[in-house]
Amino acid sequence: MDYVRPRYRTGSNMNMSRRKFVSHATIGLLGGAAVSRGHADDATGKSEPGQKPLIVSTWPFGKPANDRALRILQQTGSILDAVEQGIWVTESDAKNSSVGLSGTPNAAGVVQLDSCIMYGPGHKAGSVAAIEGIVHPISAARRVMEKTRNVMLAGEGARMFALEQGLESVPVHSRRLYREWERRRMAERKRSSKVGKQNHDTISLLVLGADGNLAGGCSTSGLGHKLPGRVGDSPIVGSGLYVDNEVGAAGATGLGENIMRYCATFLIVELMRQGLHPTEACMAAIRRIARAENRSGDDLAINFVALDKQGRYGAAGTNKGFRYAVTTLSESRVLPNPAASVAFR
Ligand code: GLY
Repeated sequence: MDYVRPRYRTGSNMNMSRRKFVSHATIGLLGGAAVSRGHADDATGKSEPGQKPLIVSTWPFGKPANDRALRILQQTGSILDAVEQGIWVTESDAKNSSVGLSGTPNAAGVVQLDSCIMYGPGHKAGSVAAIEGIVHPISAARRVMEKTRNVMLAGEGARMFALEQGLESVPVHSRRLYREWERRRMAERKRSSKVGKQNHDTISLLVLGADGNLAGGCSTSGLGHKLPGRVGDSPIVGSGLYVDNEVGAAGATGLGENIMRYCATFLIVELMRQGLHPTEACMAAIRRIARAENRSGDDLAINFVALDKQGRYGAAGTNKGFRYAVTTLSESRVLPNPAASVAFR
């Protein structure tokens, strides 16, 4: 495949001191404009420092989640409530075959879910892995963060904890009841005309609050027909999700095995710390993974969204059809993948 040069510099080809200068000069020039627009240029995927609050999520199905998150933020002022209840929208969507209990089952015919939540102030995190029968794994992850001294619970222990916390569930120990429930959900999904290529993979949702604090969450049923017990990137802090209240946040969607081996969202946040724009940071992380894998990117199936403390946002993905949703007080949009024509090697 021909290499198509992106229209901006990346961390690897831009001199560090110049990068810092450009970045700081840009922030200096734009930072004074308190109500800067924050639009991403569709060609480059680069946004200016933007409005707060700002919500960014993966895939077009992230848009209704963002819209809900914004409403919750306006009602409660809580960035954690916004993340949790925004993600509820996707987890509850019977048409979605890769998030929540409507997700594609594993090789044993059981839906096992992964989810993570992070809260910038105090650098808090909670996650659940391979959890069964819980309608909102993001809430289980939040409870792990808020109600235990742990960060991650997995499998049956995670399910028991979620039940103890009173979270909504479906029976998993009665195969008959579970199958009945599953049949109903599948029938509901089939009736929908919206089932299609867009209906896949993880919701990662990031929130920058009006006060400058950050939170994020992600939720997925993971790889369809995966080995029972297989855990992807989503519940792993720094892989599927990372939030650093000083810098920004990043979330992932795609093939977990290609994300978790590189702690990709941690890497993206660290690249933003060095001054890269969120889109540049996502691009640079993909480029680094592609180089290490000696692959052009097409078959890596890794996609990222990111936002920084200044209210800039961005994304990049190796899936040409990857898109992401951005929501502010003034608008809510689905944007194209800024890397759609980039070969990463
Ligand atoms: N990114 C979701 C997974 O690989 O499980």
